[in-house]
Amino acid sequence: MKALSYNIVLIGFMGTGKSTIARKLGYLYKMDVVEMDEEIARRQGMSIADIFAIHGEEYFRNLETGLLRKLKARGGCVVSCGGGAVLREENVALMKENGRVVLLTATPRTVYGRVKDNTRRPILNGNMNEEYIAALMEARRGKYEAAADVVIATDGKDIGQICGEIASFLRP
Ligand code: S3P
Repeated sequence: MKALSYNIVLIGFMGTGKSTIARKLGYLYKMDVVEMDEEIARRQGMSIADIFAIHGEEYFRNLETGLLRKLKARGGCVVSCGGGAVLREENVALMKENGRVVLLTATPRTVYGRVKDNTRRPILNGNMNEEYIAALMEARRGKYEAAADVVIATDGKDIGQICGEIASFLRP
């Protein structure tokens, strides 16, 4: 498929498959893939958990905003956003200025199944249960939906199917 000049921006709660789908889309469209958490950790020389522990969430959120500003200027990337990147209106504006925003969703049960053995997400440390995930997802739902140009439910679908749905949305 032909590379796009704008960004494909994947948003959604933790564990909805943003990184996996971004890699596959990058392969299909021959576009660079930017996994925001990975990029931030690489630039800071420390893990996301350490950034939260040492500098705090606000500092991390500022790094997200800075990176989104650079990616807007760059264009032509598949961007896998951190699950909380939509919390700031400024970030959503940056995503939309040079990108199509794709929201991936999954049920709290699916998310829990995907993230439960992972300790790298500070937001869920000490809160690793389906009830907490459901409550946080619900609290953020309005932000995700307001930011999205398209919503793709991922439960029970394979990677190919999800990418196919995204591609048909992106096709002019
Ligand atoms: C966060 C999601 C994480 C990461 C950080 C905070 C959030 O990204 O940015 O731990 O607030 O939802 P993933 O959605 O890639 O796990």
